[in-house]
Amino acid sequence: MSEKDLAPQARTVRVSAASRSYDVHVGAGVLARTGGIARAAAGGGRCCVITETNVGPLYADVVESSIEAAGYDVAPRLVFPAGEPNKTLDTLGCLLEGLAERGLTRDDAVVALGGGVTGDMGGLAAALYLRGCRVVQVPTSLLAMVDSSVGGKTAVDIAAGKNLVGAFWQPSAVVADVRCLETVPRDLLVDSVGEVVKHAVLADPAMLDGLAAAPLVGGSLDEERLVDVVTRNVEIKRDVVDADERERGLRQTLNLGHTVGHAVEAASGFSLGHGSCVAIGLCTVARASAALGWCSDETAARIVGCVAAQGLPTSTDLGAEELMGYVAHDKKRHGDGVNVVVPERVGSVAVRRVTLGELAELIELGREGA
Ligand code: GLY
Repeated sequence: MSEKDLAPQARTVRVSAASRSYDVHVGAGVLARTGGIARAAAGGGRCCVITETNVGPLYADVVESSIEAAGYDVAPRLVFPAGEPNKTLDTLGCLLEGLAERGLTRDDAVVALGGGVTGDMGGLAAALYLRGCRVVQVPTSLLAMVDSSVGGKTAVDIAAGKNLVGAFWQPSAVVADVRCLETVPRDLLVDSVGEVVKHAVLADPAMLDGLAAAPLVGGSLDEERLVDVVTRNVEIKRDVVDADERERGLRQTLNLGHTVGHAVEAASGFSLGHGSCVAIGLCTVARASAALGWCSDETAARIVGCVAAQGLPTSTDLGAEELMGYVAHDKKRHGDGVNVVVPERVGSVAVRRVTLGELAELIELGREGA
């Protein structure tokens, strides 16, 4: 066995949300420690892996072996068809029936193994099954590692919109193995860096400068850098979730770039990746904020430069009129206004309440070359 095959110690970030405290374990090769981490954090006698058709064949055997080695009775895994179109109430219903058929009790544990779709649905199944059982999140995509696996948001999509049905349900532990990123298509990895840049703008000027200097996703993946970046992103998200689990205040700042980003995503028929849309949203609010005197031109240029350095888009051809049709249906809308998160400088943002008319002006001002 080579040194690389030995499961190393993970970096650990402690999340202390109002409803539950837990550790996020970040490392290269930590997947093989999932069982021991679950045993210590979630307990229970039986454990069931929920995964999807792409990730399951790659990693479920390793995870289940570790679960068995940790003394669990391993229930047959639940596998659903991969992809956001399957993040539905129907799939959720199948997962819940599956947990019941496997005889899981409220004291047992679920492991959600996969990207954001699996984390959202596995987390929601755990929140609902027997009114709540323990879940360990094992994110295998960069987006899930730096964002969706931490903080307890779970959801499915309904016809009226994405993530409109869900619950806050914190995991008992999170296991983020950056080695899993080797099997993620490179374009998807680059796309996810949009959320990483967002975190850097929110809270870490040094990380922003590091990202501006070199793309995170290059020819070969740098495990050490990925462990550093994922750990730092989890810390940034942790600081927000600890202060405001239910998005009454500070957690809204995580929506930086998302008001415009969600509209671009919906206008593209969800063909453009989420991180790329967030990147466009970030650049749009940065340019508009500079034009309105809310931040300096230099701050806006740093943000746009970092986005460009990661190979992410900095603008859209869509105009305000087109995008506003999608903002009107956003679940984050409050009455006739929208809370928009804007940069003040790198490392500091403000939440500004604007009318829909003001938002349309902001989008026009934020267009490249406006
Ligand atoms: N992805 C934003 C949040 O978890 O609040």
